[in-house]
This record gives sequence, structure tokens and C-alpha cells, in this order.
Amino acid sequence: MNPVYEKLMKCYESVREKIDFVPEIALVLGSGLGDYGESIDVVATLDYHDIEGFPVSTVEGHKGRFIFGYVDGVPVVCMQGRVHYYEGYNMTDVVLPTRLMKLMGAKVLFLTNAAGGLNWDFAAGDLMLITDHIMNFVPSPLIGQNINELGQRFPDMSDIYKPDLQEIIRSTAKELNLKLQEGVYIQLSGPNFETPMEVKMCRLLGADAAGMSTAAEAVAANHMGMRVCGISCISNLGCGMTSSPLSHIEVQETADRVAVQFKQLVTASIVNIHKHINA
Ligand code: HPA
Repeated sequence: MNPVYEKLMKCYESVREKIDFVPEIALVLGSGLGDYGESIDVVATLDYHDIEGFPVSTVEGHKGRFIFGYVDGVPVVCMQGRVHYYEGYNMTDVVLPTRLMKLMGAKVLFLTNAAGGLNWDFAAGDLMLITDHIMNFVPSPLIGQNINELGQRFPDMSDIYKPDLQEIIRSTAKELNLKLQEGVYIQLSGPNFETPMEVKMCRLLGADAAGMSTAAEAVAANHMGMRVCGISCISNLGCGMTSSPLSHIEVQETADRVAVQFKQLVTASIVNIHKHINA
């Protein structure tokens, strides 16, 4: 058996020995949504450490666990803490949790992250609906022998971030009176932030926000036929766009400042997506 698939199935069996919860929506919690667990009627939690073969994060402050439960009655699984490519994992490990949540039963992948704004119309603290992505600067998670059980060798990527889900998030933000920017996310390897020239290059390529996660997860999910949507918290403007140097503390502080609105938007969007896919 393909070793990547074998590892995935081992993790799946390990999860299923402990919990039989079937989520409808898989939510990946980025910076700023770290305490989103408080918005969930928690049924169970499962530390990544307790899943056999699971890649575990090394970043300080990233709690690594799945939370299973209900957001306003909608069954969800949340990833509280993800693993990043810059930590040294290969891309197949980075997307293993995403694949695992699909195997658990999730139909929709709702991605969130903190990202640097590249668009001059953006400000720190804005929320951005992801409409598409660029990830050519990091390897595809689909490199290697194709896992036919998950999806096809050459999957189409023309509408990863599903237009109907985008429209739901857009209208939900309107209902809540929240400002929502829109744009293209570019995934870079990190862990260093970009140089001012790299920021300019990304903007010239058409990107509106830069980050170190998310796009690879979206590709793996789309490969498996999951419906994907995502929101970035613009935690800062890209290097060189302001006079001050960038720090992880600034990223965290901005994310914390807008956490209330971010959580509100995610919760209401989950409810509306649930209604939509069950209509
Ligand atoms: N660049 C890349 N990733 C990020 C940034 C940034 O400016 N801010 C938060 N994550």
C-alpha cells in the first residue's frame, strides 16, 4: 500500500478506536481563533499526541488537538493547531489532518489563518474572504504516487474555494454588518516573513494576502472532493508596506483584537453553510 495512505489509515483507525463522532464541517483554527473551542458544545477532544503516527506541531502556543462537537447544532471537527511546512514536515504530513477529517465524514473544509496584507486597500485587522490561491512557491501535497482511494492524479483546481460557499460567507458578513475584504491568498514557505521585494512580487502576481499555511490543505481537500472555503485575518501589512519591522507578537496581537468579529463570522457562516448543504 502507498505509505502515505497507510499512515493516514493508521491514524484513522486510531481515531475511530477512541471516537465515533461524524462531523459535517471541518474547521481549521488559525491565529485569533485559538480559543474558538469556547464557542463549541464540545462532545470530545483528542490530542494529536494520542493518535498513532500523527504529525505533531512544535510551534509555541499552538495547542494540538481535534475538538469534536456542535456549533449551534452543526456537527463539526476543529483542528486546534496545525502543522506547518516550515517546521520541517513534508507536505504529505502537513495535509494528513485535513485528509483525516474527510475520512471522519466532513464534507466541507472551512480554513482560517492569519496572513499579511499585500493589497494597499487592506489594513491590519481586516478579514478577507479567500477567493483563490497561489502556491507554486511550496511543493504540492499531491507530489508522489497518487492515492487513488482519495482522488485522481491530475485534479482540476478551477474552483477550489466554492463560489456558493463564498457567497454564503459574503452575505453572512453583510447580515452581521462586518466589513469583509476579498482576495487571493499566496502560500510561502516561511518561517521568515517576506522581504519588501518579495511582497512586491507577490502583489504583482495578483496575491492580496500572504501566509504560511492553508493553500496546501485546500489542494489536498479539493483532491478528495471536499468543498472548501476560507477566511484570512489580515494581522499585518506585508514587510516594507509600513515603516515598522514585523514580529510574530504583532501578528498575534492583531489576531486577538479582531477575534470576536472573526468568531462571530465563522459561527454564523457555519450555520448558513449547514442550511445550504442540507437544503
Ligand atoms: N507573511 C506571511 N505570513 C504571515 C504574515 C506575513 O506578513 N502575517 C501572518 N502570517
